[in-house]
Amino acid sequence: MSTPRHFLGLDDIPASELRVILDEAHRRKAARKGMSKGAIDADAPCAGKTLALIFEKSSTRTRFSFDMGMRQLGGSSITATSNDLQLGRGEAVDDTAKVLSRFVDGMMLRANRHATLMELARNASVPVINGLTDRSHPCQIMADLQTLEEQGRTLKGLRLTWVGDGNNVAVSFCHAAAKFGFDLTLSTPAGYGIAETELSIANGAGANIILTADPMAAASAADVVIADTFVSMGDDDADKRLSDLSPYQVTDAVMRAADKDALFLHCLPAHRGEEVTASVIDGPHSVIFDEAENRLHAQKAIIKWCFD
Ligand code: CP
Ligand code: NVA
Repeated sequence: MSTPRHFLGLDDIPASELRVILDEAHRRKAARKGMSKGAIDADAPCAGKTLALIFEKSSTRTRFSFDMGMRQLGGSSITATSNDLQLGRGEAVDDTAKVLSRFVDGMMLRANRHATLMELARNASVPVINGLTDRSHPCQIMADLQTLEEQGRTLKGLRLTWVGDGNNVAVSFCHAAAKFGFDLTLSTPAGYGIAETELSIANGAGANIILTADPMAAASAADVVIADTFVSMGDDDADKRLSDLSPYQVTDAVMRAADKDALFLHCLPAHRGEEVTASVIDGPHSVIFDEAENRLHAQKAIIKWCFD
């Protein structure tokens, strides 16, 4: 049996393949102009296929975009939280992988621990997609990059600045930096930086990543400013995080330091008044709802790539 084509992280997929996925995302989005949301794409590439969507944590965008994505690709999906499954009562991940591989054509997992995703993938005989773990969120970054390109930006040499917690989303931006050739500045306070292992992976692949504790310096002349929640799912030190990270709020002053045409990205859900002011996230630089919509288009391209 051939190894299934998993989508687990941007670090382990060649740049040329990621480019194919992004091009497909643009193409599929354009092809749907004027169609109703539930209509099936003309080529229906996933006809007869079913994707399992398994969630150990909450989700709005990932859940709906994968489900609608499979419908638009002509296939179907089955959604379950881990508590609906015997997985939530301690059934082994490897047994779950082997059993579900007999029922469905692919699986998406949102996992508390990245190790759970990897164990699922190791034991599955069908493709497995990372729908966010504590380590990374690669589907999100594909949608973000689609958003930047449709805003007319060329990724190579683009200056992206991350302000705030060095979390799972930031890690996937690090992995993407080398693959797409953008420059990435990370502004995080002490204790909230990206793990050295992740920086080594990104730098080893040729990424240009600059680290600075000063958010204003980081934003200086940036083409894109990115924020995410200060308290991610699974973080149990909310009060300390909100206090430690408060100087890293993306404000109008931060955006003024950036290029005058800079774009603002946030994967959502957002907390106005914490990681970003309402004036920024609801202001003229923000493209957050295009970004959210592109989860659908980017993931359809990811699903198709996994099944090709
Ligand atoms: N951005 C994102 O992954 O959103 P959800 O948690 O709602 O899926
Ligand atoms: N960093 C956030 C992203 C949510 C989509 C979290 O993990 O909760």
